[in-house]
Amino acid sequence: MAFDVDMIKGVYAQLGDRVAAARTAVGRPLTLTEKILYAHLYNGAATQAYERGKSYVDFAPDRVAMQDATAQMALLQFMQAGRPTVAVPSSVHCDHLIQARVGAEQDLSEAYTENKEVYDFLASVSNKYGIGFWKPGAGIIHTVVQENYAFPGGMMIGTDSHTPNAGGVGMIAIGVGGADAVDVMAGMAWELKFPKVIGVKLTGKMSGWTAAKDVILKVAGILTVKGGTGAIVEYFGEGANNISCSGKATICNMGAEIGATTSVFSYDQKMRDYLVGTERAEIAELADQVAEHLRADDEVMANPEAFYDQLIEINLSELEPHVNGPFTPDAAWPISQFAAAVREHNWPAKLEVGLIGSCTNSSYEDLTRAASLAQQAIDKGLAVNAEYTITPGSEVVRYTAERDGILDTFAEIGGVVLANACGPCIGQWARHTDDPKRKNSIITSFNRNFAKRNDGNPNTHAFVASPEIVTAFAIAGDLTFNPLTDTLPNKNGEQVMLDEPMGIEFPVKGFAVEDAGYVAPAADGSAVSVVVDPCSDRLQLLEPFKPWNGQDLMGLKLLIKAQGKCTTDHISMAGPWLKYRGHLDNISNNMLIGAINAYNGEANSVKSQLVRGGGYDEVPKVARTYKAAGLGSVVVGDENYGEGSSREHAAMEPRFLGVQVVLVKSFARIHETNLKKQGMLALTFANKEDYERIEEDDVLDIIGLTNFTPGVPLKVRLTHKDGSTYTFDANHTYNEGQIEWFKAGSALNLIRLQQNQ
Ligand code: F3S
Repeated sequence: MAFDVDMIKGVYAQLGDRVAAARTAVGRPLTLTEKILYAHLYNGAATQAYERGKSYVDFAPDRVAMQDATAQMALLQFMQAGRPTVAVPSSVHCDHLIQARVGAEQDLSEAYTENKEVYDFLASVSNKYGIGFWKPGAGIIHTVVQENYAFPGGMMIGTDSHTPNAGGVGMIAIGVGGADAVDVMAGMAWELKFPKVIGVKLTGKMSGWTAAKDVILKVAGILTVKGGTGAIVEYFGEGANNISCSGKATICNMGAEIGATTSVFSYDQKMRDYLVGTERAEIAELADQVAEHLRADDEVMANPEAFYDQLIEINLSELEPHVNGPFTPDAAWPISQFAAAVREHNWPAKLEVGLIGSCTNSSYEDLTRAASLAQQAIDKGLAVNAEYTITPGSEVVRYTAERDGILDTFAEIGGVVLANACGPCIGQWARHTDDPKRKNSIITSFNRNFAKRNDGNPNTHAFVASPEIVTAFAIAGDLTFNPLTDTLPNKNGEQVMLDEPMGIEFPVKGFAVEDAGYVAPAADGSAVSVVVDPCSDRLQLLEPFKPWNGQDLMGLKLLIKAQGKCTTDHISMAGPWLKYRGHLDNISNNMLIGAINAYNGEANSVKSQLVRGGGYDEVPKVARTYKAAGLGSVVVGDENYGEGSSREHAAMEPRFLGVQVVLVKSFARIHETNLKKQGMLALTFANKEDYERIEEDDVLDIIGLTNFTPGVPLKVRLTHKDGSTYTFDANHTYNEGQIEWFKAGSALNLIRLQQNQ
């Protein structure tokens, strides 16, 4: 059994009291989102109300899930905390590193060879620290979490943007960076700006060709890719009760495409059925006992306008199937208007590949509905006019679908079953094409369709739809086909129509699997050693950063004065560098290579003060020369420095290469916190004009650290090349606890010290 009943019992045991305390603190009825969030405050029951969209709040999530790409650095860091086990139940899922080439079996075996060192590391570190390990082929993180770990009223974080998938099982599940996962696994608080709440009221009932996917495709059209930013989307209404639990998960999964923090549904009979169907009747019974706390208060349901920041209403009885795209998931086309849009925009009408499955849409219901169309193609003598692939979300789904003959049906129409992994959804797709320059169309039941997302080809027009619409299009091979109204010629020259798809929510014989791919950790991992090949260029054990030496920082060299936008991508570029995300030394060779040097307007070209006459070189190289000479350095930046993602490498790399201070006009908040966690000094100009006083050959001293106090500025003294000096104030936002991080050399160093006391 992978899930942790005792943890769930603990959450439910205090749920009623915590919700009551929150209602008192807030002074009004509560949405479901608020109930779950207030029940997970780090410091216990609520004693005050938090302002939605404003207050920063510390939370204590129940679980952490990590995928294999992001888990590497997260776990390398976690090892620094010196804990014997993770503080909350956690899991690792090997899904992102498997490339789709020819089909499941061969692709999986090649992935094992190519990624052996990463898998060996993840397996051993999981075994040692009490983390559930899901082998390559076990399935995609979100599907496996949905089938095993998600529970109504819970809260989890996951190191992947589609973590909100678990909202289909009533969980507040939020996608984060590795640094956040480290905090929670190490027992620290996890901070989040208290989100706004968008209500989506669903009325009516879906029928025919319409599927759960169409709800989120419609919502994406309404809210656009930015409309959910900073908000949790809460679905309710009698229409919600008619959507299967896995359909709910599809809707929540794709909430990431509107920028939402997460999405969530209330506990209902469909959710209950799913828990029972996935062998978690025990959890269903526990949830039944606290069901009143697993939905919004009645007053909220009766008068939603008064309680949600925004309210959307969708009548499922009138909802048409949708196709969204190309290049963006919020370009929403009802199927009745899609053919005209294809013609008008001159998108390639010929469909080359239809891809179903992924973490978004590979439930038993999805596969049976798609298979019902495949069967019709066979029965009605229809040719299938596009390539067709199926990506099961988990081995449980794949095995069950194979047992029930569903995969045979797909095979009969030429479908290729890919590994239970991300594959084409994340661009891990060795697509074969005769001409990559040709404009071409594909359609998927996945979630993202930005340019190059699936096959790396900017000429590919990717559309997103439900698995049944994808299958109908694959049969037609033509994007101007409307399966609800149009006919297709069969082998006998007759014009035939596809009937509405039919699906089965749960397998009649139940789910089955031979080897789900789960490896439970050792009961006592103290004797387990973590496997890292010292010659690896992809993985490297971390050395703890040095603690502060108790003195002011003197004689720091200016490494770069960055001008204008400097996002985490400028600081630590992605793309080819992602290969090294588990190897701090190697990935540090991308440090700040995208930042523009204010003195020459160029990227990755800074003056080295150690070269007589001032030679210019790449930023990481110059940083390494300072480090080798035992000198600290300083990065100076502009406004909103470090915006973008929560990528921890953007804070770790400078720390590793000897940068001690990042001094900017203003920080993106998450990056500022990440710098603090790594034991860096994150400072802002008290007077922004002092940015102009920094000269290319400056040496900087930071004064006042022996009395480092919250709210008290530090002094920065510049010594210019001509020997003249200039001193100014630099502000900081360190609280008492964060000052201790600085002194210990990093937050994880501090935790380790505390463990050893
Ligand atoms: Fe993987 Fe795509 Fe889901 S990358 S986690 S299958 S969104």
